[in-house]
Amino acid sequence: MNANSTNSGTTTADTLPSPGDAAQLRHVLGHVPTSVTIVTALSRGLPIGVTVGSFSSVSLDPPLVNFFIDRSSTTWPRLNESSTFTVNVLGMDHAHLCRSFSRRGADRFEGVDWQPSPSGNPVLSEAIAALDCSRYKVDIIGDHIQVVGRVESMQLQNAGLPLVFYRGDFLRLGCGPESSRQAGEA
Ligand SMILES: Cc1cc2nc3c(=O)[nH]c(=O)nc-3n(C[C@H](O)[C@H](O)[C@H](O)COP(=O)(O)O)c2cc1C
Repeated sequence: MNANSTNSGTTTADTLPSPGDAAQLRHVLGHVPTSVTIVTALSRGLPIGVTVGSFSSVSLDPPLVNFFIDRSSTTWPRLNESSTFTVNVLGMDHAHLCRSFSRRGADRFEGVDWQPSPSGNPVLSEAIAALDCSRYKVDIIGDHIQVVGRVESMQLQNAGLPLVFYRGDFLRLGCGPESSRQAGEA
């Protein structure tokens, strides 16, 4: 395939956008698959949570993770009041949680089963894993805020394939990890 060939609707090499064009940058970056997590905390005793796809690990020693939250987020001011937060990792059957925790003006916890983490934050019962974090560092980066947490405790509570967000939609994973397939475990 040459540089100008198309491949299932992707942008051709000769029409690559300028990095300053936000819509085009979002379009290109949409080709990078992300995990889907719900970051939760307590705000004045009430559970709060927001869908976050920018979660990643940062360091093993000390154990650090991070995510990026939009400066216009209405959840952030309340999240920012808490010295702890919990990252809930969603599985492939949890698209409904991804949607409801990214919707404004609704009770995001309605019908959602959760238990308190060691620091008291919501651990969603359906989540694959939960990492309970203390706030380590917060920085403004461009139009986002980088939130770095130190992992204080963690739990793996459900087996299953992860929810993956890709090109504005959920990617249905079918086969499981490559090594399991080779071993005939898929
Ligand atoms: C798959 C997915 C991933 C998202 N990742 C992020 C993220 O990493 N950071 C962020 O600020 N918003 C992210 N959002 C958008 C927020 O969830 C949404 O804008 C937010 O919940 C709006 O409500 P708020 O004002 O309460 O923050 C994501 C949304 C979806 C559907």
